Order: sequence, then C-alpha cells, then structure tokens
Amino acid sequence: MITSQELRQKFLNFFSAKGGSASGGKRGHTIVPSSSLVPENDPSVLLTTAGMQQFKPYFTGAADPLKDNHLSLGHPLGNKNVVSIQKSFRTSDIDEVGDDTHLTFFEMLGNFSFGGYGKKEAIEYAHEFITKILGLKIDYVSVFGGEPFDSAQGKSVGVPPDLESEEIWKQVDDELEIKKAGRTDNFWGPTGDQGPCGPTTEIYVDGVEVWNIVFNEYYQQPDKTLTKLDNMGVDTGMGLERLAAVVQKVPAIYETDLFAPIIDELPANLENEDKRIVADHLRAICFLVSDGVRPSNKEVGYILRRLMRRVMIYDKVDFKKILPVIVNQYRDFYDGLNADLVRATFEDEQNKFNKALADGLKTFDKRTSQGDKLEDGLAFDLFSSYGLPVEVIVASARKRNIDVDEKELFKKFNERLAKHQKLSKTASAGMFKGGLVDHEPQTIKHHTAHHLLLAALRQVLGNHVLQRGSNVSSERLRIDFSHPEKVTA
Ligand code: SER
Repeated sequence: MITSQELRQKFLNFFSAKGGSASGGKRGHTIVPSSSLVPENDPSVLLTTAGMQQFKPYFTGAADPLKDNHLSLGHPLGNKNVVSIQKSFRTSDIDEVGDDTHLTFFEMLGNFSFGGYGKKEAIEYAHEFITKILGLKIDYVSVFGGEPFDSAQGKSVGVPPDLESEEIWKQVDDELEIKKAGRTDNFWGPTGDQGPCGPTTEIYVDGVEVWNIVFNEYYQQPDKTLTKLDNMGVDTGMGLERLAAVVQKVPAIYETDLFAPIIDELPANLENEDKRIVADHLRAICFLVSDGVRPSNKEVGYILRRLMRRVMIYDKVDFKKILPVIVNQYRDFYDGLNADLVRATFEDEQNKFNKALADGLKTFDKRTSQGDKLEDGLAFDLFSSYGLPVEVIVASARKRNIDVDEKELFKKFNERLAKHQKLSKTASAGMFKGGLVDHEPQTIKHHTAHHLLLAALRQVLGNHVLQRGSNVSSERLRIDFSHPEKVTA
C-alpha cells in the first residue's frame, strides 16, 4: 500500500526533480512550504482554501517570483515554477462532513507556474504523475466548454471554450474520454472578493475528481467582470485525502491511513458518522490552534469555537489522549504544531463551554416548562445567548424526553441564523467602513496622502505590500499594510 506520507513525497519529488515532460520541458519546481491557515495577504477570506492563495501576487504580476521577497518566506521564490502541500480549510463543506468525501481541514497538493510553463506541460505532468508514478487509470477528464451560445447575438458570450486543453489531452492519450462543462464545473476562482481565476481541466479516477488544474487567464474584479491577465498562470490542486482513498482503494477518506489512527482512538460505540465528524474536527482544531486561532465569537475564532463545541458533546471521547496523537502524526511534515498549546486551548474552551452549558440548560428547562418550543426560536436563543450548538440542544431535548421535529428545527434555526448574520454583516460593514469619514478638505488631503503613502511603501519595500485596512478622517490618516519584517525608520 502507498501511504499518505509516500504520496506527499512522490508528489514533491516528481515536481522538484529535473526530469522532463514529453514535450521536453524541465520540471525542477522549487518546493515552497505551506502558508498559514490564516491568510496573510488576502483580507477578504477568513481561511486559506487553496494552495494558490499565497501566490496570488505572482499570478497578477504585482510581485516577481525572481526578484520580490515572498510575503512570509522573506526571500524571493527564485523560480517561476513551484510546488507545495498546503494546509486548507473549507467552511462551505462543514455540514457535509461525515459522508465519504467531505472534510473541513485538508491537505492540498499543488504545482504552480507564474509564466514559466503553460497548458501543455501542466497537462502532461499531471497525466504522467497519475498514470506512471501512481499507476492509476484515468476514468475521464473534463475541460471548459465555454459559456453558453447566445442565439440572439449569434455567438458564445463571455469566456471562450478551452479548445487548446482538449487538443492537448487528445495528443497525450487519444483514447481518453473528454467531457465538457461550463462555468459551474470547469471554471475556478477567485478566492475572496477578487483575484485570478480561469478555466479548469479536471482528472477523474474511480468516479472521484482527484485533480483540478486551473489556468489563471483572468482577473475577476469585485463587480465580477473579468479582465485578461498579461501572463497565464498554472494553478493545480489535488486533495491528499481523496487521492489517498483512491490509491489505497478504500471507499471513504476516513478509511485511509490519514484517519485510521484517529478513528481507532474513538469509543467503539460511537456511530460511524459521529466518529468521522469527531476525527475531522479534531484534526482541524489542532491545525487552527497551532496557526494562532483562538476560540471567540467572531470570524475565524467562531469557526474554531463551533468545531470545538460540536465535538465536546461526545463526552465519552478522551480528548486529552487523542489531540496529541493527531499532532504527532503530522509534526514531522508541518512546522509549528504544538500539542501542549492545542490541549490547553481545548481545555480552556471546555471549561467555558461547561459553564455556558449549565446556564443554558437552566434557561432551557425554565422555558420549556413554560411551554416554549425549541422550533419557535428557543433553540436560536440558546445558541445566540449561550453559544449552545444546535446539536447539543437536540441531544439535551432527547435526554429530557422532549419531542423535537429535527427537520423543522434545523430549517427554522438556519433561517434565523441567516437573518441574524445579515443584520450583523450590515452593522459591521458600517462599523468598519474604510476610506473617508467625511468630505472635508483636510480629509481629502489625508486621503490623497494615504494613496501616496501606499505607493511609496510599495516602491521602497516591494510590490508584495498590500493595504490591510485604513482610516482617514480630518484629524489623521491610518494605513495598515502587510510586510514580513519590521520596517526600519
Ligand atoms: N485553486 C484550485 C483549487 O483549489 C486549484 O488549485 O481547486
């Protein structure tokens, strides 16, 4: 059996080796360590969801991989072609966790090129790695089929089909089935509210999409219009867990060697789905805490709190024992994992949760005895006042033999949550409104000075400098910016 660690190593070796592609290209990628789960240069996203995020400035041309210091490495990448294994987290999949293929935290294998090579080599590399290095058989591949044909205009509107990739795949293997799909399936990005994006070609093995190869040809503006980038970039992503499931021939990612040691530590009488949720969340907790996230009621801190409280309802699980098992499993590959810190943070949150739970359950008992129904807002009140996850509320109701219509409860709860989030978004949008607070002549001067200052910072420190926030009034101007080192006088 090929282990996950071997998969990581094979991937890095393949792309960093000096070997060539069928068309004579030389691989020789530079290995770049994973960036933090908390993105340093992308304030519009809470967590790192893709390997390309730390490379955004190279795709847009804002930074030169050969000359400009990388944001966190503190030196230039020194190569237009790089390879990484990126710690990634997708909140969008949180409710799917427990099935065979979804996770919150995962590891993403990726090779990237910022004007070094194009579609031909990217496709040939991927084909060689999957079929020769791993010996897998590709079911089929997909390519971008273009945006729909508009009969009124007599042409395809928007992004044209990726005929080049289709042609390359035919040359690589003329027996391969090539499927075509539109914007929803074969177009990727951007992360956050703007950034590089483009058509994709995807590789399917055993019915699973294993590899997503993106050709970053466009920049999507905040208003969703696309502008063509000067240089096309290559951005690929292959989830290690899914690849491991395919290679190790198991039906679920939770049955790979990445999860077996964690699942083995869980009480045997837990339901299968519960075991998977606990295993996924505990792994995510170890990585989030080690990357500096702390449980709180906002943003990324709230994501962590939700994961922690979700698993705390399984009071038979020996967290003290399992958290270090997870940290040990990954410590050799990822820097900064800290078992003591993870355990202490978890225990601290557990104490807070126990207190909130005790208070919340008092309210629960009082209000249900007055005839209040969980479905009619009580569940949401318990969540918003005491931070009790809805799963805890349902479990508590069961213990008290209170009938709950779970489907109805979740539906109503989510409706209230969406409304609540919309309201708080509007409130915080007002609170953090950037830019000018008024249009006084002095404020306008400060605003102009703020632009000059940002331009000067970029000239002196490099193009990686990005604005992270600003506040401009008639009294003062403030600009927050990103730079890996302390700035000298
Ligand atoms: N950015 C693309 C993805 O996340 C390919 O790496 O799937």
